[in-house]
Amino acid sequence: MILITGASGNVGKEVLKQIARTGAQVRAAYQTVSKAAAAPSGVEIVTMDYNEPASLQTALKGIERVFLVGPPTPNLTSLERKAIDEIKQSGARHVVKLSAMGGRGATYPRQHADSEDYIKSSGVAYTFLRPNGFMQNFVTYNGATINSQNAFYGSQGDGKVSHIDIRDIGAAAVKTLTEDDHEGKAYTLTGTEALSNDRVAEILSDDTGREIKYVDLPPEQFKQALVDAGLPEWSADALNDLQQFYRRGGASAVTDDIQKLLRRKPISFEQFSRDYAQAFQRAA
Ligand SMILES: NC(=O)c1ccc[n+]([C@@H]2O[C@H](COP(=O)([O-])OP(=O)(O)OC[C@H]3O[C@@H](n4cnc5c(N)ncnc54)[C@H](OP(=O)(O)O)[C@@H]3O)[C@@H](O)[C@H]2O)c1
Repeated sequence: MILITGASGNVGKEVLKQIARTGAQVRAAYQTVSKAAAAPSGVEIVTMDYNEPASLQTALKGIERVFLVGPPTPNLTSLERKAIDEIKQSGARHVVKLSAMGGRGATYPRQHADSEDYIKSSGVAYTFLRPNGFMQNFVTYNGATINSQNAFYGSQGDGKVSHIDIRDIGAAAVKTLTEDDHEGKAYTLTGTEALSNDRVAEILSDDTGREIKYVDLPPEQFKQALVDAGLPEWSADALNDLQQFYRRGGASAVTDDIQKLLRRKPISFEQFSRDYAQAFQRAA
């Protein structure tokens, strides 16, 4: 049986949806009980908090493989350590960890690099999936201003990013969780090309028929805007740090790992934009 953690999250939800279709025996772990109502039918459900070892032990009973997702918060590494400690004691034989592209170049990928190191030193068999920034971030984080102001904000200048569609991360996760031969490997998951935010704005403009603009802010102003919007200071700093990493071209590499894993090209940004057209419609 396969345990999907973070099952209510952006990536966990997609992995769960795709793996449920394969007929594999799956258990979905939710931290927030009420969110489990969204689980696909046929999937076993468990409530689990990384801070509560007993809940991890219950979730891990009879599990062979784990899809490990930590939240993008300051304690990601310590939460994943707690999970790994319990996984090591359980009968699970393989962890597929959702990591991040970027090595130690910015706060978020650095947390994941630390977590990868812990997993390697634990002796648990692992596969690391290291995605670049998600295409769906333009819906989750920028959708509101795209729809209300025909604009989105950042601080990455003309730095290019080879965004990845969450649906491709889901497919890569299913592959590595259901096949052998992926242990000890790391896959860096990117889209087909690196795009500047001005180019992203052009694509979204073409598909929506409205002129959508990217507004580049100086780092301090960008951070203040995030804090004013209610983000905790740590998250505002981490997002700003990521934007400066993007500005330096740190996330512009394109890999062929999706092609190798899935034997098809990654979903293009143009395709994503067409598929999510509804999410970029102006409120009536
Ligand atoms: N966004 C990007 O572009 C990007 C790029 C590369 C890598 N990543 C990495 O991808 C990962 C997942 O991203 P995401 O957008 O899917 O995150 P997300 O939507 O915030 O999902 C996080 C999940 O973790 C669960 N969770 C939080 N605290 C927990 C705890 N104490 N015990 C058990 N579960 C807990 C959450 O449950 P609740 O819903 O109940 O809170 C949620 O299901 C992050 O580690 C992020 O750094 C993101």
